[in-house]
Amino acid sequence: MSLVLHENLSLKPFNTFGVDVRARLFAEAHDDHEVRQGLMLAADRGLPLMVIGGGSNLLLTRDVDALVLRMASRGVRILSDDGERVVVEAEAGEVWDSFVRWSLAEGLAGLENLSLIPGTVGAAPMQNIGAYGVELKDVFAGLVALDRQNGELREFSLAECAFAYRDSRFKREPGRWLILRVRFALARKAHLHLDYGPVRQRLVEEGISSPTPADVARVICAIRSEKLPDPAVLGNAGSFFKNPLVSAAVAERLRRQYPDLVAYPQADGQVKLAAGWLIDRAGWKGYREGAAGVHAQQALVLVNYGGASGSQLFALAERIRLDIQERFGVELEMEPNLY
Ligand code: EPU
Repeated sequence: MSLVLHENLSLKPFNTFGVDVRARLFAEAHDDHEVRQGLMLAADRGLPLMVIGGGSNLLLTRDVDALVLRMASRGVRILSDDGERVVVEAEAGEVWDSFVRWSLAEGLAGLENLSLIPGTVGAAPMQNIGAYGVELKDVFAGLVALDRQNGELREFSLAECAFAYRDSRFKREPGRWLILRVRFALARKAHLHLDYGPVRQRLVEEGISSPTPADVARVICAIRSEKLPDPAVLGNAGSFFKNPLVSAAVAERLRRQYPDLVAYPQADGQVKLAAGWLIDRAGWKGYREGAAGVHAQQALVLVNYGGASGSQLFALAERIRLDIQERFGVELEMEPNLY
């Protein structure tokens, strides 16, 4: 196949915030060959290459003076199956949640807690997506990426990816690695993670005493749908800030002042604070400034009510960040990539 180029194309359908900026050039890559074509074309035209997946972790504040290459490769396959451990591989352009549903339909456990996360398979390792007590790294079995510096393919093991909370080697070396396909180690026999927040309680409420992965997925979809806006209805990029890590001393100081502080002690002695709680407590939940706002059900999510520009959303985020810094002495870090 050959790459189809579009000039001066609106990126509104390609970012879940629904921000209307234009790409100087835009193309969709369906296979490795088209990815390489994209790289060459960008170089020929002297343009940077911006690779996107579902555009669900992206805040665009201006027209993109680059070749925007949207990963559209498809394909999911079982690589090995010993009756217990099943290694599957998915192409980068697969829609994450469709892949999760496919795995559950195949009777494979491991991805159920990661149900309904927007975005694509190829973007998932970038920020080590996570939800309800499971992160991508917990089911990861390797990936293949293209090294944009020399055009060679490279295999990455779990250790080489340096996954951390919403972080990875790929995020820390921006512009270098282009993820082509990802492998996951799934299980025929489920080891369910039910301890995060309301998951176990919701199952009990539904009268389910021995849940299947499909039950867990259904409950998590229900919880997510109540709190997180559907980007097809209300533009957003999920959590706008990461949950900040602070020292035990800072957490203790805050706890004395705010006894209902939501904080999770980490293995290394640091404490992770719920940014949603901080923003909520500071009074921002449901706040609206023109078309940009803070979601009424989850203070960690910024929303575009329609027509907000990326700069308006960013300006609101900055006001929130400064307010949280002043009020609590805590530094919030943005989660989506900013352009
Ligand atoms: N909270 C509030 N007010 C709010 C929001 C949250 O008080 O407006 C409190 C909640 O009551 C709860 C705590 O904060 O005690 C944590 O809230 P929640 O369980 O909703 O999760 P979160 O920490 O806000 C993280 C991830 C989400 C993921 C959920 C569930 C980050 C930055 N966000 O949110 O991931 O779905 O946990 O695992 O880690 C994303 O990254 O885009 C994302 C949606």
